Amino acid sequence: MVTYLADPPIVVALDVPNAEEAIRLAKKVSPAVGGFKIGLELLMGPGPGLVGILDQLGKPVFVDAKLHDIPHTVGRAARQLGMAGARWVTAHAAGGPAMLEAAVEGLEAGARGRPAGILAITVLTSLNDAILAHSGVPVTAGKLTSKRSKLAADAGAEGVVCSVKELGVINEVAATLAKVTPGIRPLGEDAGDQQRIATPEEAIRRGSNLLVIGRPITRAADPRAAAEAIAAGLQSGPTHST
Ligand code: C5P
Repeated sequence: MVTYLADPPIVVALDVPNAEEAIRLAKKVSPAVGGFKIGLELLMGPGPGLVGILDQLGKPVFVDAKLHDIPHTVGRAARQLGMAGARWVTAHAAGGPAMLEAAVEGLEAGARGRPAGILAITVLTSLNDAILAHSGVPVTAGKLTSKRSKLAADAGAEGVVCSVKELGVINEVAATLAKVTPGIRPLGEDAGDQQRIATPEEAIRRGSNLLVIGRPITRAADPRAAAEAIAAGLQSGPTHST
């Protein structure tokens, strides 16, 4: 039995260039999703003030900040995002245990009693074994995912962001971690630049606790109807993917 992190377990990725578009889109899809995600583009543009505005819509806000710096700096940054109203914040597990612990503590301090948790990025999905070796990391992406998931759990992270394919490995080494999966495409949808995709039903069936979905919702003619259709598919039980 999979526990969902939000109801429905869908966070819509608001990958748009400005606050106005992000808010318009968020309001449009709000009744059909469990939360909103903003990434580096909106954080660097309108900034963390947008987190508070989205939070006012009554859904948890996932800040994909991908923090990676010395522990003190990451702790302070996470604290700011907690104060801004972030429910989840991402941080690179590559930063090491002390950095992840600082992120967890900083976020909690900023959130002042509201629920808030760090989601660790294990290995970016844009990397593969060859690129890792070329960058001086002589381990496979699979082994690194496993090692960093364990590290994330030990540091107190709430979960990890991973591909649906990695769910099995992560459950073996760190079953208590929440698993958040991007790369989701309903059957028949364009993969876009995602390399390893899974349907929403397959992701949930394999143990994902939260789906991150962007273009299949945001580029639909009717984004709210697209999100509702995905959520309805999850309620009617798992179906088979390709
Ligand atoms: O449009 P699409 O559904 O592909 O959007 C997926 C979202 O999840 C994007 O915001 C992307 O940055 C994010 N993401 C990802 N893969 C990761 C981590 C985050 O696609 N490994």
